[in-house]
Amino acid sequence: MKISNIILIFLFVLPFAFADLRVGFYCTSCPSAETIVRRAVRRHFIRERSITADLLQMHFHDCFVRGCDGSILIDPRGRKGSEKQARINRNLEGFDLIDEIKAAVEKACPSTVSCADIIALATRDAVALAGGPRYNVPTGRRDGLVSCPSEVHIPGPSLSVSQAFESFFRVRGFSLNEMVTLLGAHTVGFTHCSFVRGRLSSFGNRDPPMDPALDAKLGRICGSAQRPARNDPQIVLDQNTSLVFDNEYYRQVRMSRGVLHIDQQLGVDASSRGIVAGFAANENSFKRRFAEAMIKMGSLDVLVGNAGEIRKNCRAFNSPR
Ligand code: HEM
Ligand SMILES: *[C@@H]1O[C@H](CO)[C@@H](O)[C@H](O)[C@H]1NC(C)=O
Repeated sequence: MKISNIILIFLFVLPFAFADLRVGFYCTSCPSAETIVRRAVRRHFIRERSITADLLQMHFHDCFVRGCDGSILIDPRGRKGSEKQARINRNLEGFDLIDEIKAAVEKACPSTVSCADIIALATRDAVALAGGPRYNVPTGRRDGLVSCPSEVHIPGPSLSVSQAFESFFRVRGFSLNEMVTLLGAHTVGFTHCSFVRGRLSSFGNRDPPMDPALDAKLGRICGSAQRPARNDPQIVLDQNTSLVFDNEYYRQVRMSRGVLHIDQQLGVDASSRGIVAGFAANENSFKRRFAEAMIKMGSLDVLVGNAGEIRKNCRAFNSPR
């Protein structure tokens, strides 16, 4: 190897190899960053507790496409599309809170805190407010330079456990246990009837089994016909405590009260039902595992060092591209 190549490696490769996420990344460059996020999330949560679900789903959809790089936040512009236009992302909410936090953080420390980190920190704070675990989020993510609707491949609700695992989670380095843990996020939030009607007995489906009382209730809420997306009714994913981050999701699944096909499959499939039973019986172990799995999810293919950029406005790349 020529000496100039070795120097090149030292100049360009090493900083990336060593640059990594760490807890307290903004400790000196923007000491108020985490406090600003926490206060804004708390204000929003008091008005609208659904923000926890909004942020969890946003963080998941950000990290599973291109890595946690804030690409989910980009608005389409003119003929240039963005991830928000993908069908699975059209119902996402919570972007106004991210904008509010970004504006406050820019005022305190211009061009310092990434939008990708704001999503991760805000999600962490919203989970804790809803009763979930408290955990430290390593920061130092940079914002991505690409957001493309055709790259959005997020698991659909009617997959089997093994399809979801093999195609979406194992390829990103997650264990089956971690997939079952992350799906525990469905302890908060809603789904639309369009994702559920096919499971109801009025549509002829009985597999996996659904508690008859829940079947009747969802049949009443959802009606018999597909409706335009705009007024498709919503159903809570956790049929008991949908605003609380607890282990009730797993307990409901054990009672055949899982709402999405994938939710109920977790309780039926031989590979996952033991994990579901364990979390249903032990809330603390679920919360501990959930915090660990979220830190792992939040580290997926992150941009660090000099990669990407720190956006000024989370909805647009800095330089027109
Ligand atoms: C196999 C994996 C997964 C599948 C198939 C799946 C599927 C879905 C579907 C179909 C919805 C309803 C969307 C709608 O009706 O608008 C939903 C909602 C939700 N998902 Fe997942 N999901 C998965 C994993 C995850 C993960 C890993 C997280 C976060 C860690 C997550 C968090 C949420 C939350 C919080 C909601 C409620 C959103 C709201 O109320 O605004 N999901 N999911
Ligand atoms: C609802 O959740 C509470 C608290 O976890 C539990 O005590 C109760 O048995 C649950 N009820 C149903 C109908 O699942």
